[in-house]
Amino acid sequence: MRLITALDIGTSKVVALVGEVDSYGDLHIIGIGETQSKGIDRGYVTRLDLAVNSVLGAIKEAQEMAGVKLATVVLGISGPTLKSQNEKDTVSISSQPVEIDYSHIERLIDRAVMRSREEGYEILSAVPRKFILDEQEGVIDPLGLLGSRISAEVHVAKVGASLLKNAEKVVLNSGMEIGGKFISPLASAEAVLTLEEKEEGVIAIDLGAGLTDFVVFSEGSVLVTGCIPMGGLNITKDIAHFMKVNSEQAERIKIENGYALVDVINEGDRIKIKPRGEEKEVTVSKKQLAEVIQIRLEEIMERLTELLNLHGVDLNTLHAGIVVTGGSAKLAGMKEFLERYFDLPVRVGYPMGVIGLKEKVQDPSYATSVGLIKLAHKNLAFDKKGMSQRAQERKSDNTLSLSGIMAKLRAFFKDIM
Ligand SMILES: Nc1ncnc2c1ncn2[C@@H]1O[C@H](COP(=O)(O)OP(=O)(O)OP(=O)(O)O)[C@@H](O)[C@H]1O
Ligand SMILES: [Mg+2]
Repeated sequence: MRLITALDIGTSKVVALVGEVDSYGDLHIIGIGETQSKGIDRGYVTRLDLAVNSVLGAIKEAQEMAGVKLATVVLGISGPTLKSQNEKDTVSISSQPVEIDYSHIERLIDRAVMRSREEGYEILSAVPRKFILDEQEGVIDPLGLLGSRISAEVHVAKVGASLLKNAEKVVLNSGMEIGGKFISPLASAEAVLTLEEKEEGVIAIDLGAGLTDFVVFSEGSVLVTGCIPMGGLNITKDIAHFMKVNSEQAERIKIENGYALVDVINEGDRIKIKPRGEEKEVTVSKKQLAEVIQIRLEEIMERLTELLNLHGVDLNTLHAGIVVTGGSAKLAGMKEFLERYFDLPVRVGYPMGVIGLKEKVQDPSYATSVGLIKLAHKNLAFDKKGMSQRAQERKSDNTLSLSGIMAKLRAFFKDIM
């Protein structure tokens, strides 16, 4: 029996999710703890004590439910500074074809990591994609094949060092150890995407409260990772501003009556609200409410489109379209809005692939935490299957550090298993 605890420190909530791996390798969710986020804003820590308290609350609740003492967590990281790049490189191995092993791939990863280093940033993952073995393109998994030269594009994702260090500090000050770190959008994608969608090309969008995380998969592996520092909270604030209500009322209005598209709402549909300074309730049109929402969503998607263009993503090649998850994916009309905006097929992504507490965790707002458990589980499975001697040796003293080779390999194996 092995326990994996995910910790997702979001803008609106902190989730601690406890998974247990059974003897068949299946993942059972046995505990969940959730608190309102305090002292956290879009991945940044704004007040250490409050942030630590939020984490402690979630851990305590998860512990009680699971009936175990938790000591180590797998942490999700995201924030406005999250960005990615792809580094192409070739490693010459020998004049005669030899069997490709991890050390060759490690070399490709190491070199990509070296080249992607940037002051003020920490590299969180490096995932090779698009292998070329000698002149053979389109190699999916080169391990065990013969070649004298190997090329790959390595997808490197990095995040601002201070954002990362402060998130880590919150966890450490909560008395927990960090057993692994993954980029939150990658975790969300892991929870909601199918293998076919990754193969066909897809954008996984996690629309949260403060962040819109995204990952583009093409030909089975990650092409772009990024984050836009806006989300459902901005919509709530807009509603509060335009309807002159407080944020609690605005949140309720959004959830109960909000819609992501203006032109499907009937002219005559109205809702009652009680604005500040008004004695009585007044009615406003639902169309107006939808307009406030749609304008903000369009702004977020414009930013996303800009980033995708910057990375040269051709939307027409993403045949599986868009999978949207995160709490804001529950906004009525979201699927229709995205279909219209991008002219691509869209589905809402519900976390899958775990057993236990299904009614609770099969909710888009748990995509990151479920995905973190799944990613960590894959890596454990790999640990058992074996790895190069060099990686094994390094692993012994570097298990917890994501800056070491294990980390790079970790990011790597998840896509070849
Ligand atoms: N039924 C609903 N309709 C519309 N919006 C919803 C609904 N349920 C939740 N939300 C919104 O989802 C957001 C919270 O999503 P989520 O829990 O994924 O965010 P988070 O992980 O805390 O934040 P982030 O990932 O952005 O840091 C809130 O803005 C909330 O208003
Ligand atoms: Mg989130």
